[in-house]
Amino acid sequence: NLSPADAAKLAASRAAIALVKDGMKLGLGTGSTAVIMVRELAARVKAEGLNLRCAATSQGTADLATSLGLTVESLDQIGWLDLTIDGADEVDPDLNLIKGGGGAHLREKIVARASDRMVVIADPAKVVETLGAFHLPVEVIPFGEQVTERLIRETLQAQDLGKRPILMRKRDDQPYVTDEGNHIFDLSLEAIPDPVHLARSLAAIPGVVEHGLFLGICDLAIIGQPDGNVIELR
Ligand code: A5P
Repeated sequence: NLSPADAAKLAASRAAIALVKDGMKLGLGTGSTAVIMVRELAARVKAEGLNLRCAATSQGTADLATSLGLTVESLDQIGWLDLTIDGADEVDPDLNLIKGGGGAHLREKIVARASDRMVVIADPAKVVETLGAFHLPVEVIPFGEQVTERLIRETLQAQDLGKRPILMRKRDDQPYVTDEGNHIFDLSLEAIPDPVHLARSLAAIPGVVEHGLFLGICDLAIIGQPDGNVIELR
């Protein structure tokens, strides 16, 4: 009695886990899809006695994986990863992504870049023609964050994306705090016609730590279907 979305996430998770081999160094993503994937992975490790070393993209994922008996180490202990499996908020036909809906995109991007392969697992609702309907998360250092917000706004205006809401992410009426102690601005852009240009300009703002555009990082997207099948985008 899984919901259609969860059945799709499970199908994608199983297909991604089939890529895992004994002895691999693995990056574990964050979010509801990654939770399903980590559970499936732990079950396979137990059943087959696999030896894996895992790096997590968030404290939440580290805690979950550890509680399920997976070996979690810091990224620097492991050094470099064979494969990272993570969810996404949006995937476009070029395998560019928006991530960070769960607030973990900074560690997620570091882990993904430290991997020979990054595989995205998603349900069909994540597949888009053009990125941007999902708000774009931008992690900022709290110091001077109003100045940073102003610079983000100027950047958007220069790219005809002005007048769109920029909201500081909140939890219980307080700024949401990331695993790295930073805050997040969510940019409601509707559509991002030139993600490369936007990514470059956002990254050039001093107070911006990392934005949620993952461009040219994902190698394979596995889109699960509610009936248990998967579609692979390369
Ligand atoms: C976490 O910061 C995000 O990048 C997630 O990967 C993304 O939000 C996908 O989450 P769901 O699997 O819950 O949709």
